[in-house]
Amino acid sequence: MIDTQLPLAYTGSKSKHHLFPVSRLSLIQSMKESENPKIAVLSAKIKSFPSLPSVVNHVLKITADPKSTVEELIRAISPDLALHTAILKISNSAFFGRMRKVSSLKQALMVLGFSEIQNIVLSKAVFNSFKNIRPDSLFPIRKFWEHSFLCGLAAKIISHDLSEESNDFFVAGLIHDIGKLVILMAMPDDFRMIIRQSDPRSLHTIDAETKIIGAGHDRIGSSLLTRWMFPENLVKAVGFHHQPEKAPGDRLFPVIVHTANRLSHMIPFPENKSDSKDMENEFSNIIHTGKLSGLDFNLKMLTRYREELIAGKEQEKDILELFLA
Ligand SMILES: [Fe+2]
Ligand SMILES: [Fe+2]
Repeated sequence: MIDTQLPLAYTGSKSKHHLFPVSRLSLIQSMKESENPKIAVLSAKIKSFPSLPSVVNHVLKITADPKSTVEELIRAISPDLALHTAILKISNSAFFGRMRKVSSLKQALMVLGFSEIQNIVLSKAVFNSFKNIRPDSLFPIRKFWEHSFLCGLAAKIISHDLSEESNDFFVAGLIHDIGKLVILMAMPDDFRMIIRQSDPRSLHTIDAETKIIGAGHDRIGSSLLTRWMFPENLVKAVGFHHQPEKAPGDRLFPVIVHTANRLSHMIPFPENKSDSKDMENEFSNIIHTGKLSGLDFNLKMLTRYREELIAGKEQEKDILELFLA
């Protein structure tokens, strides 16, 4: 019998400083050797993609430096009124661990700490970068963000079970599929063809992408994040969320986001009613990939995560609106 009392533990290698060389993930880097003209178009698109606003880069620099002060962070954020307001609103949600109401930026920084502020700023920056994508019947952008949010939520639930900084994983889940948006913007016709050829639960999207444009949204997303100089854990989570077992070095972020993605596809949206046989198969696949990547899930754990995810989807639905605002 499976012992479900034991806490989930990551048995893979783990490094605090994540020395994995991000450049190895970069599509841009590997394009030098590629003959595929579509990859060249994508690569050029990523290179010409707007940089993150300077305030975001400034905040990232400050939050990454342990010697930075709250005053420096306030000075960096304050001139950007929209970001200032968004941080206050998001800080006041229970989701980001609010213990009491915060009414000023200083209070928010003191209560949440640098790492949570970094999480909020990064997530908001990604949403803002893709704000102008128009709704489309073949690819409803609202559904895309709902799936992303659900994946973030699932990643938070799993990482919480591992006693990890769960909002770091929430962000990784939230942005895991942004490579799809890059494809949509760079080559809309190919993107439509990919959608038409993909499985309804989009688990085989990668195959269609590879066939049609020569690369999957995982690599493409990680290339954009590399260009934006996102933290390495996030770059790696996005780059290997479909094949966490292939991630070099520490696989914790990729395997959690991989599992979160699969769990989020198992939530019964009206058009996606999973039957129990499907669910069992899917859980077995997750357990198998988890083992290869250093995490020992079992059926009871996955069932519990899925139940928590269904409850969380309802409880936390307002958070998505804060990011979309
Ligand atoms: Fe994906
Ligand atoms: Fe996904």
